[in-house]
Amino acid sequence: MVEIELRPEEFSLFRRYIYEKVGISLSDQKTTLIKGRLNKRLNQLNLTSFKAYYDFLVNDLSGDELALFVSAISTNVTSFFREGAQWKWLETYLPALIASKREKKIRIWSAGCSSGEEPYTILMFLQHHLSDFEQWDIKILATDISAKVLSKAIEGNYDAKQVESLPVEIFHRAFDKIKTEKGLTYQIAPHLRGKVLFRLYNLVTDPFFFKNQFDMIFCRNVMIYFDDVTRHELIRRFTTVLPKGAPLFLGSSESLTTHRDSLKLLGSSIYQRL
Ligand SMILES: C[S@@+](CC[C@H](N)C(=O)[O-])C[C@H]1O[C@@H](n2cnc3c(N)ncnc32)[C@H](O)[C@@H]1O
Repeated sequence: MVEIELRPEEFSLFRRYIYEKVGISLSDQKTTLIKGRLNKRLNQLNLTSFKAYYDFLVNDLSGDELALFVSAISTNVTSFFREGAQWKWLETYLPALIASKREKKIRIWSAGCSSGEEPYTILMFLQHHLSDFEQWDIKILATDISAKVLSKAIEGNYDAKQVESLPVEIFHRAFDKIKTEKGLTYQIAPHLRGKVLFRLYNLVTDPFFFKNQFDMIFCRNVMIYFDDVTRHELIRRFTTVLPKGAPLFLGSSESLTTHRDSLKLLGSSIYQRL
């Protein structure tokens, strides 16, 4: 592989573009990271400079290259039942949510859903805690900027390592064992997969078109790379589609210093719409 240099003026081009497109602010220290992680991509594309790659990126109107770039500089790491304390809290909140419903209808948004573990965990959780789960009209909107992780999420195939720590009773009702050429995989059962609507969606630049409100929003470990202005605006948009009392879940390392008049911290990075 040819080692291609990233010049400061090229880095500045990426910095401006990525901020405008995804709200990620790249500090100077990210030069080495970008150079290291994208050299392979430049080689794959037979490009000999980062300027040529920049031109390729901005001219790719499909957005695929942007998603690939974002994946290269950030992380798609996720897992089932991540942030355990939040699921414990949800156990205590669920009865109140159910009691408040006139219709058996639940709508949840998993914003920045990566390869699907988060939306499927929501369904596993609801299936486990609602004795009449099948009678409920449940839809999870699961969005991400990356087409690659979304296609994995839609397939819903996970390997043994990813599912081994799930409680047996939850696991058995949620997965089908599938034999493939590569070995055994565990696929989310069709009755659960059918309740998730996966969509490619950029939380920073795509229009906020939602007409209905959500019973809760998960946006966990997504805003870590956003600057304050971008984060502030996204949270403001979330509050417009959350009814009074509804929770917003952030990642455990994320906290809000703004929006005190519209969101109250309940603990474990869970905020409640006031
Ligand atoms: C670390 S994963 C978190 C997955 C999951 N929410 C969790 O906490 O386990 C962050 C995800 O956010 C997505 N993401 C980053 N910037 C985004 C943006 N501007 N719009 C939509 N998704 C974005 C990434 O593609 C990635 O899949």
